[in-house]
Amino acid sequence: MRTARRKKNKLITPISTMKVKNEKLVELLKTRQYTRTELAEMGVTEYQINKLANNYKLEYQYEPSKNDFVYYILEKGYDPFFFLPDNGEEKLKIAKMADLHIGSTETDEKELISLFSYLWEEGYRIISMSGDLIDGWGVYRGQTENLTYATIDRQVDVAVSILSMFDFLYITNKGNHDASSTKNGGADAIALVQERMVNKGKKFVYLKSYCGYIIYKNTAIQLLHMDGGYSMQSDTYGNQKVVNAMNKTSSTRGDVNVNCIDVFGDKISVINLITGHYHTLGKFMYGSMVVESPLTTQHTTDLINRRGIRSKTGARVSEMEIKDGKCVSEKGAIIFGRDVHEMYSVEHTPNLSIHTQAPKSTDRANNKKTKVKTEIDNEKINKVLRNLIKIGFVGKDELKDDEIEYIRQTYFYNIYRNPKDGTIVYQQDNDEHTIIYAPAEQKGIVRYLEISNLFVGSKFFSTKAFREILDRTKAAGVKFVHIGGNAIWGIPSKANAANTELFDGRDQVRKLVDILSDYPEFHYYTIDGVCENTFIRSSKAYLRFNPMKYAEMLMKEKGIKFTAINDSKCDFLIYGIIFRMDCSSEERLKNWYTRDYGMVKSLRELMVKAGRIVKVKGKEYGIGAIFYGHVPTTIETFSGGMYVTSTAGPTIDLDNKSPLIKSNPEGAIVNALVNHGEILKFEREIIAPIV
Ligand SMILES: [Fe+2]
Ligand SMILES: [Fe+2]
Repeated sequence: MRTARRKKNKLITPISTMKVKNEKLVELLKTRQYTRTELAEMGVTEYQINKLANNYKLEYQYEPSKNDFVYYILEKGYDPFFFLPDNGEEKLKIAKMADLHIGSTETDEKELISLFSYLWEEGYRIISMSGDLIDGWGVYRGQTENLTYATIDRQVDVAVSILSMFDFLYITNKGNHDASSTKNGGADAIALVQERMVNKGKKFVYLKSYCGYIIYKNTAIQLLHMDGGYSMQSDTYGNQKVVNAMNKTSSTRGDVNVNCIDVFGDKISVINLITGHYHTLGKFMYGSMVVESPLTTQHTTDLINRRGIRSKTGARVSEMEIKDGKCVSEKGAIIFGRDVHEMYSVEHTPNLSIHTQAPKSTDRANNKKTKVKTEIDNEKINKVLRNLIKIGFVGKDELKDDEIEYIRQTYFYNIYRNPKDGTIVYQQDNDEHTIIYAPAEQKGIVRYLEISNLFVGSKFFSTKAFREILDRTKAAGVKFVHIGGNAIWGIPSKANAANTELFDGRDQVRKLVDILSDYPEFHYYTIDGVCENTFIRSSKAYLRFNPMKYAEMLMKEKGIKFTAINDSKCDFLIYGIIFRMDCSSEERLKNWYTRDYGMVKSLRELMVKAGRIVKVKGKEYGIGAIFYGHVPTTIETFSGGMYVTSTAGPTIDLDNKSPLIKSNPEGAIVNALVNHGEILKFEREIIAPIV
C-alpha cells in the first residue's frame, strides 16, 4: 500500500517530468542544430533553453540556409562548427582571408573593397576569415596611434558597410583584436557585425571562438587564430608549431589524416587549416592537410615593424576537390596587389615542403629606430580633467597639445587652449553643444515625460514599473520621452556585480529596446550618464561600445524615433527658451545623499560660471528648466527663475541593497506653458506606479 502510494506520487511530481524533458532536449541539441522556432514547435520553452546555457556549452550561430540562428550543445573542450551546405559541385571554391583589421590606419578600405570586387568577379562566393576582422582597442601599447576609428561602434559600422556591399557568405572565427571588444568594450563586436549583417539580409557566420570549423562533405576546414604574440622566425614557423602540437595530441591518426575532430559523434578529418594572426603568407602540406596563413589586409604597423615582420596583403583562393571525407586535390592561388590584382597559381603539392627564413638583420635594426610616441597617462589626465570641470581652467603646462586632442577624442569634452595666454579652458556652454530644436507640434505648450536612472540590466530595474509609467504617459497623450541618462546599468563595478542581471552592454540595450519598441508613438531622447560612460568614456578600461547609439540604430530599424545625444547634456530650444537635460555628475555625485543639496549647489555653480544664457548661433536664450538625471530621487525646486527637477526612475530595491535606490519608482510628465522665451506655467505630474 505504502509502495503504491509512493509510486503514484513520483509519477505526478512535476520536477521529474521537467527532468525527462530537459534530458531529451540535451540529447537533441547534442546531435543536431535547431532554430528556436523548431525547438518551440517541439514544445521547448525559452526558460529551458536559457537554463541549459548555464550547464552546457550551448553554441549558436547564423545558419544562412535557414535564414535563422541555430542552437546546439558542444561537449566541453570542443570548438564551434558550421555546416556548409553541399552545393552539388565537384569542387569547393573558397577565398581565404585573415586579419582584415578594419579600423586600423594601415588597412586601406578602398584596397579592401577592390579586393572583394576582384574575388566576386573571379566567381568566389564564400570567404573564410581567420579572425582579427576589426582592429579593436587597447590590444597593445600605443595602438591609439594606429587607429583611424577608435570606437568599436565605428569599426563595426565600417566593417558592416564594406562587407554588406557584397553577397558573399562570410565565415569568421574570433581573433585577439576582435576579442578586445569584449574584454575592453563590454560587447562582442563581431556578434554586432553578424547581427547587423543578418538584419541586412546578408550571410555572415560567426564561430565565437579562436578556433572554429567549417564542415563540408564530411570534412572539416579549421579556422584558427593565435591569442597574442608573434613568434615569427619564418613565414611558416607558427603553423609548424601548431601542427607539431596537433601531432602530439591527435589520438585518431589515420594513414594520412593527422587531425580529426568529433562532430556530433562522427570523426571527421581536417583537410585544411587556415591560421590568422601571422599577417603573412605561409603554406605547406602536412599529410593530406593544407596548412596556410592567408595574408592580411593590414599593411605593416609600428607593432609589426617592431617585431621585424613585414605584412603581406592580399588573399588566398583555392579550389578543393573533396571525396570520401578527404581532399583529393587542391589548386590554390595568391592574390596580391593594391589596385591591380595578380594571381600566382600554386599547384597542390602532396609532399611536406617547409621552408624557413631567418629574420632580416635590417628589420632588427629598424626595430631600434621605431619612434616612441607620447604615452597617454590616464591617471594624470583624469586629475587634470577633474580640476578643469571643477574650476573651468588649468595652467598652460598641465596638458600637452596631443593630450588635449586625446581628451577631445576620448571624452568629447569641449577643451581648448586659450590663444591669448595658453591656459587650458573647459568651456561648459558655447555655440557648439547639442541643441535640439523642438518639433512644430510643441508650440506654446511643452509636454514630455522626464525619466532617468532606469538602470536596465541591474536587478533594481523594474520592467513592470517602467511599463506602467509608459502606459500612463501614452494615455495622457504625451509624445516625447526624455531619458536623462543612466538608461542602462553599464559595466558594474566590483561592488555592484551582485546587483547585476545582464553583464553584456548589448543585452542591456536590447532589453531596453524590447520595452521601448512596444511604444512606437513616442520620440525618445537620451543623454549619456555615468552608466553609459562606463563604456564610452571610462579612462580605466578604454571602453568604446556606445550603448545609446546602438539603441538608436535598433530603434531606427524598427522605424521608431530615437535620438541618442552623445553628451551628458543637451538643450532643447522650445519656443524661445531652453529646456535642459543634464546628467553631468561631478558635484552632485558627492552630494546625492543629501538629495537636492547637491543639485542646488551645482545649479549655483552653473549660474556663476555660465549664467542662465545659452548661445545658439550667436543668439542668446535663457534656460527655463533643467531636468537633472543621475540623482535617483525626486526633486522639484525653483531657483533663479529656473525650474530644477529630477525623478527617481523605474527602480526598486526590495532587499535594501543600495544606499541610493529606494522602492519608490517614478517618472514625471512635465507640462509647461511657454511664451516669448518665458515659462508662464510649469507643472509636473508625478507617475508613481504601485509595485
Ligand atoms: Fe591577431
Ligand atoms: Fe592580426
